[in-house]
Amino acid sequence: MKAVGLVGWRGMVGSVLMQRMRDEGDFALIEPVFFSTSNAGGAAPSWAPGAGPLQNAYDIDALRKLPIIITAQGGDYTNEVYPKLRGGGWDGIWIDAASALRMKDDAVIVLDPVNRAVIDASLAKGGKDFIGGNCTVSCMLMGLGGLFQHDLVEWMTTQTYQAASGGGAQHMRELLTQFGLLNAEVKGLLDNPASAILDIDRQILGKQQSGTLPTEHFGVPLAGNLIPWIDKDLGDGMSKEEWKGQAETNKILGRGDGASPIIPIDGLCIRIGAMRCHSQALTIKLKKDVPLDEIEDMLRNNNPWAKVVPNTREASVRDLTPVATTGTLNIPVGRLRKLSMGPDYLSAFTVGDQLLWGAAEPLRRMLRIVLG
Ligand code: HSE
Repeated sequence: MKAVGLVGWRGMVGSVLMQRMRDEGDFALIEPVFFSTSNAGGAAPSWAPGAGPLQNAYDIDALRKLPIIITAQGGDYTNEVYPKLRGGGWDGIWIDAASALRMKDDAVIVLDPVNRAVIDASLAKGGKDFIGGNCTVSCMLMGLGGLFQHDLVEWMTTQTYQAASGGGAQHMRELLTQFGLLNAEVKGLLDNPASAILDIDRQILGKQQSGTLPTEHFGVPLAGNLIPWIDKDLGDGMSKEEWKGQAETNKILGRGDGASPIIPIDGLCIRIGAMRCHSQALTIKLKKDVPLDEIEDMLRNNNPWAKVVPNTREASVRDLTPVATTGTLNIPVGRLRKLSMGPDYLSAFTVGDQLLWGAAEPLRRMLRIVLG
């Protein structure tokens, strides 16, 4: 049985990863070694009987004994520890949720239902670094994988509706606190059916603009608002989250050489007040006119998790939402129709739990691939 080092297992992504690994019986296949950045010597989690005490996540000698390490500790940890490990000659498998190593030439961004061939080719060449993708990109590809598999996408533009969890656990708490304070602000008026809605609206805006809502994490109120920028400003009008769309999608698909040129993918990334599902509206320029029923079959057949939602009002409002999707591995994809620009212009809307396919699931599946 292989020993597997687990780092960052207590954070939000790590906790979801641990739960998924337990649900799927992964711990029966490995000897887990739990690491901690702050509590070395502490007890391993009670659900992992037999695991030794927590080891120091910065102890390179302890890490280098392991043939496989999975980390959800974050980019700063990766930047600190990974170069020391590899610099010291460690040649184990590194599976990482953070973005730090994603674009490294010999790293593969893992999303095996979509790019198993790229993963296998890397393993065959001795590849050792397998990194989870950006959540928005991974969820989009799980929904639209069929179109890429059939090489139908000439270009695509995305408009995202990204949940608070993408910022982190504290962001989710801040959003809910803001919602609560806004509600409290107008509770008396809400309870009185005779109150005027414009009075409520004015008081809400006053609270949002008052500077008294907690905004340490988002910078501005997100409750009853949206934020049309995610991640760093690259200085050319593009956010880093927007840059990742094209860069990571093409890397996941193994594109970018002469035989398979880069597919242009661009658009705007927006933060909204959803909890943990990222949604996105897509305009896709197809390479040719393909009938809608054939497109739906391609999406359905690409992977078991892509769920085509009929393009009706009833099905869309019921099944194509963060609330319907959260906590499941389903990637609903709907609002599929040909746009008025022409029969080779397709619209789509897709939703995915950014902590599952967007973060934890590709990592545990990569572990399974390595374990064989
Ligand atoms: N960058 C993403 C977001 C989360 O802020 O929503 C992780 O990929």
